[in-house]
Amino acid sequence: MAASRLAMRRNAIEPVAVRLCRQADRLASAGRLAEAEALYRTSLAVDPALASAHNNLGNLLRARSGLAAAAAAYRAALRSGLEAALIFYNLAAVWRQMGGLTEAAVGYRVALALDPGYAEAWNNQANLWRDQDRLRDAAFGYRRAVAIRPDWADGHDNFASALYLLHERGDAPVAARLARDWRSDHPDNPMARHIGSAIVGDSMEARAPDAYVRQTFDLFAAEFDNRLDELGYRAPALLAEAVAASGPPPVAGLEILDAGCGTGLCAAALRPFARGLAGVDLSGGMLERARARGLYDHLEEGELVAHLAANPNRYDLIVAADVFCYFGDLATAFAAAFAALRPSGRLVLSVERLEDDDAAMTYRVGTHGRYAHRESYLRAALVEVGFALLDLRVDGLRLESGQPVMGVIAVASRP
Ligand SMILES: C[S@@+](CC[C@H](N)C(=O)[O-])C[C@H]1O[C@@H](n2cnc3c(N)ncnc32)[C@H](O)[C@@H]1O
Repeated sequence: MAASRLAMRRNAIEPVAVRLCRQADRLASAGRLAEAEALYRTSLAVDPALASAHNNLGNLLRARSGLAAAAAAYRAALRSGLEAALIFYNLAAVWRQMGGLTEAAVGYRVALALDPGYAEAWNNQANLWRDQDRLRDAAFGYRRAVAIRPDWADGHDNFASALYLLHERGDAPVAARLARDWRSDHPDNPMARHIGSAIVGDSMEARAPDAYVRQTFDLFAAEFDNRLDELGYRAPALLAEAVAASGPPPVAGLEILDAGCGTGLCAAALRPFARGLAGVDLSGGMLERARARGLYDHLEEGELVAHLAANPNRYDLIVAADVFCYFGDLATAFAAAFAALRPSGRLVLSVERLEDDDAAMTYRVGTHGRYAHRESYLRAALVEVGFALLDLRVDGLRLESGQPVMGVIAVASRP
């Protein structure tokens, strides 16, 4: 009797608490965090055992009040009887941020025991393993994540990074075996195809596929400027110097194309010389940031060779900083650049320098997915389509694993 009275009482109060919790969710999504927090607390005052309100309050507190408060809310959700993978996943993330790696590993293990098909939990467990240098385990975890969510770009990107690290740290045969499996499990995924082939070592691609470039830079766009700053990225400055050294361009007189403009790191150096400054890039995410600079007259989301081919005799200066490292064979792109330039127009570019003992090797794709070019090949490819070489210099473009990445900077003109 007492039990049924209790059940009736729960039926009466539960909808109110649930309704309040839903309202709080909507406020939280709208960024009205203080009001949302108050409403979650009201909902919990009505029904202290409403686990979803504890969990969602935990998510809100994570941003608003810190990790300890969030962890307390998630623990309250567990005490309310919600033994859900999601709560352990959330707790594990908070523990990890608080530096409790062992606790975080336990959290992910429980989440995965409750729900073995939880791709995000496999991914985050793999992140933990990666950070502990357990790279084979990390690769296993990412592989599980993308098996569950085959279209998850972040998961594939993480798997690519783990295979790259495995390869660099001397586990090349294991990395190659995993890369081969990755490629055959996901034959239509551009990252599995491009990076997988680079790691297996049998890449036949003349350049990185457009879909790979787009996906890679859309994922990277938000961090790009900070990350490149940390790596001491100098290509835009080196190209600007090379332009000036080969005869300073007239002030505000040139039609300029920033080919593969990315987030627009070259724009400030180019703007003073431009009558018109255009940028083209495959990645919408990168272009969004370029647009925010307010320095370009025209920005186009598209493939640069197609853009060049569609704009004959249009430009006085084409700049390509750190872009031809996504091309192996340079002939088609250089021919298109030549045709897009006006007579006396200049092409200024950087490539990563291939330092390989095999003299017959003209370019090679690395396990990170970028191509490096032999200097002699770069020279020959420019001259072959009709360019006159004005300047060629070698310099450090940025750091990678603490070591400088050496590049070749070329200035060529259309006679
Ligand atoms: C390493 S970022 C360099 C961006 C910029 N030039 C800079 O120096 O900061 C390479 C850029 O080239 C773009 N890219 C690579 N291949 C391309 C192609 N075929 N067509 C258009 N954009 C391309 C990528 O989307 C990316 O934004």
